[in-house]
Amino acid sequence: MLRAIPVKDLDNNKLLNQSVKVNGWVKTFRSNRFIALNDGSTINDIQCVIDLDKNKNDINLITTGSSLEIFGKLVKSLGKGQKFEILVDKLSVLGPSNSENYPIQPKKHSFEFLRENAHLRVRTKTISSVIRIRSEISYAIHKFFNDNGFFYIHTPIITGSDAEGAGEMFSVSTLDKSHIPLSPDGSIDFSKDFFGKETHLTVSGQLEAEAMALGLSKVYTFGPTFRAENSNTSRHLAEFWMIEPEMAFFDLKDNINLAEQFIKYILKYTYEKCKDDIEFLNERLAKEEMSLPKDKRSELSLKEKIEFVINNDFVKLPYSDAFEILKNCKPNKKNKFKYKIENWGCDLQSEHERFLVEKHFKCPVVVFDYPAKIKAFYMRMNEDAKTVRAMDILFPGIGEIVGGSQREERLDILEKRIKELNIDSKELWWYLELRKYGSVKHSGFGLGLERLILFITGMNNIRDVIPFPRTPKNADF
Ligand code: 4AD
Repeated sequence: MLRAIPVKDLDNNKLLNQSVKVNGWVKTFRSNRFIALNDGSTINDIQCVIDLDKNKNDINLITTGSSLEIFGKLVKSLGKGQKFEILVDKLSVLGPSNSENYPIQPKKHSFEFLRENAHLRVRTKTISSVIRIRSEISYAIHKFFNDNGFFYIHTPIITGSDAEGAGEMFSVSTLDKSHIPLSPDGSIDFSKDFFGKETHLTVSGQLEAEAMALGLSKVYTFGPTFRAENSNTSRHLAEFWMIEPEMAFFDLKDNINLAEQFIKYILKYTYEKCKDDIEFLNERLAKEEMSLPKDKRSELSLKEKIEFVINNDFVKLPYSDAFEILKNCKPNKKNKFKYKIENWGCDLQSEHERFLVEKHFKCPVVVFDYPAKIKAFYMRMNEDAKTVRAMDILFPGIGEIVGGSQREERLDILEKRIKELNIDSKELWWYLELRKYGSVKHSGFGLGLERLILFITGMNNIRDVIPFPRTPKNADF
């Protein structure tokens, strides 16, 4: 039995004039003769030319969306748009498609429409490109860490500690919702629940990653992460994938340098590996931007933006400097920001982050040493007792892509901070013990996979870079 050749491998002179077998779905069928077939292995379709005499019984079944198995000869194509084509010898329709109702017609669809058809949208060029890129990025992430002496660890998805402070959590429970057991004081009696305590879906694997790093030195997690914030924005998902490296003996500077090196590696790897897809997305974005008014168009193309980030150093500055820039900038003075920058210590909103990155520095920016008040309990306190060794990496068009810090390794200071923030330290006993037995300076960060994919694909909405997005009021598929 001849094995099917992936469409991407047909672009090969060695197969010229050979018999080949290919499987795929029909993208278009023209003039009762020309099938554009694709199996998802590449953005490029293979043209299959039908011989009316040999294939007449099947012709009516060849409709957009149907799946085919084709045997034929690979020849040089005389038509424009492709180097090779297949002269069909034998064709079987594996699965016909009711083409009138088939949602993915060969025309432009809105992304909203495609989200409603998320089970079929991967058959479009744009979404299949994005998903192929997502796969290559994921591979590159593992490769980077593996090549650099990190261990891939798995941290729990169900967690009993709600102290991370990263956002609202989804609860995990098997209690019968119609008969919730109550304690004498009227609160829910979680001792009757599956784990005997209140549990949630994790908002971050960091705390457990710290425990692993303080024994393995360099580790990373890469897994699903859940946040129940009601943020219906184009940058937030309720379920997203986060990469969290954690390194013993690293201070904040080492941490920032690693993050920069890591991001550049991933971008470079993917840029070189996914040339056809990025070329396609580059053109897609250019066309989309043509419909915008001139002042709303980007100065750089998608490819230029990626190249720029790969080839230039990220700007690094402390929060206090970023604060001064923002306080004195024109939009702030002219009240153009929704949240005016007035007092040191305020949190930076996405409008401020984007001003720094897109208007002021015009390149990725690392802001570090944030006010302690606006950051999590575990971040290392600076000598000034006002700021913590936190860092955020801000990207053009995206805003925050990475959040990280040097962790507080001093038990007494950590305990003080937990108290000040009114955090229940009971659940954190093991986290505190890490500071009792061989504590060392250590650092880590979290990179949102989907935000990185947004950047490299030039897509606008985070819902379009994950196969089946989970957002408020949306858990279909
Ligand atoms: O800044 P965050 O909340 O950091 C943490 O969770 C730390 N525990 C990470 C660490 O130090 N190990 O989140 C990290 C990144 C953000 O910069 C963003 O890219 C992404 O995760 N992120 C989201 N992505 C999509 N949807 C959401 N709702 C996201 N929330 C955060």
